[in-house]
Amino acid sequence: MSSYHGHSSCVLNLRGQAGKALSMTKDTHPSGAPWRNFYGRFKGKSLRPAQEIYLREDLQALSPGAVSWEDNPTRKLLDLERMFDGRDVWLEIGFGGGEHLVHQALQNPDVGIIGCEPFINGVAMLLGKVRESGVRNLRIYPGDVRNMFDILPPASIDRGFLLYPDPWPKARHHRRRFVTPEYLQPLAKVIKPGAMFRVATDIPDYVRQTLEQVPRHGFEWLAQAPADWRQPWPDWISTRYEQKALREDRVPHYLSFRRR
Ligand SMILES: C[S@@+](CC[C@H](N)C(=O)[O-])C[C@H]1O[C@@H](n2cnc3c(N)ncnc32)[C@H](O)[C@@H]1O
Repeated sequence: MSSYHGHSSCVLNLRGQAGKALSMTKDTHPSGAPWRNFYGRFKGKSLRPAQEIYLREDLQALSPGAVSWEDNPTRKLLDLERMFDGRDVWLEIGFGGGEHLVHQALQNPDVGIIGCEPFINGVAMLLGKVRESGVRNLRIYPGDVRNMFDILPPASIDRGFLLYPDPWPKARHHRRRFVTPEYLQPLAKVIKPGAMFRVATDIPDYVRQTLEQVPRHGFEWLAQAPADWRQPWPDWISTRYEQKALREDRVPHYLSFRRR
């Protein structure tokens, strides 16, 4: 598994240290990875000793296999049949502290769920919940979901969740949002026709961009009445980020799409 250390925050460009020189002649990293800017955080405040232990002892056993470009330079596709014994597979993108991921895994033992989250403090929180609950039908990739998209078989995902993605409120940062072609094209490729894709956000302009962009990438918005986006899904559990939004008087929106 590739290291999760080394970057405390901000922009990681996969060109790495030699980026400038390479950019003159090549359009990929020496590992073969495409250039992908990541603007989020890999690590926040210090981990508690128990969390260090979870990461050391538990993360590897929950690995979906070789995902990063360093570990899987030929981009060999994951064998999901084998990973989850032929069960349906769901994907949660940016699971934060993992409350929704663990909740869904516990409620749906006949499903396998893959979670991707580059923020290692969030991964450590999730691992604490996994220990506490004993849930086993999940796999964790502690990294960027774009690496996961590369190696998921086409039309292999039966449900996708994007819950409170980073809002990037400034207009000049809107292109960093998940609801852009860079993310939605590969997402559309891996989601099965007919499968659901759920987006929750508390940012009105994020709703706008989601409703504009997601249907352009082969998804149909299923709302027929305001209650359909105002009410949470029946199997919902509120996430940490949603709790923060509610404390700050922002209004959650629950958007349900179906892959055409
Ligand atoms: C605002 S937080 C919401 C977390 C959680 N879903 C919740 O509702 O509490 C957005 C999360 O998306 C993660 N994220 C950002 N870019 C990502 C990427 N490229 N792949 C996977 N996760 C990503 C961030 O690290 C962060 O934890």
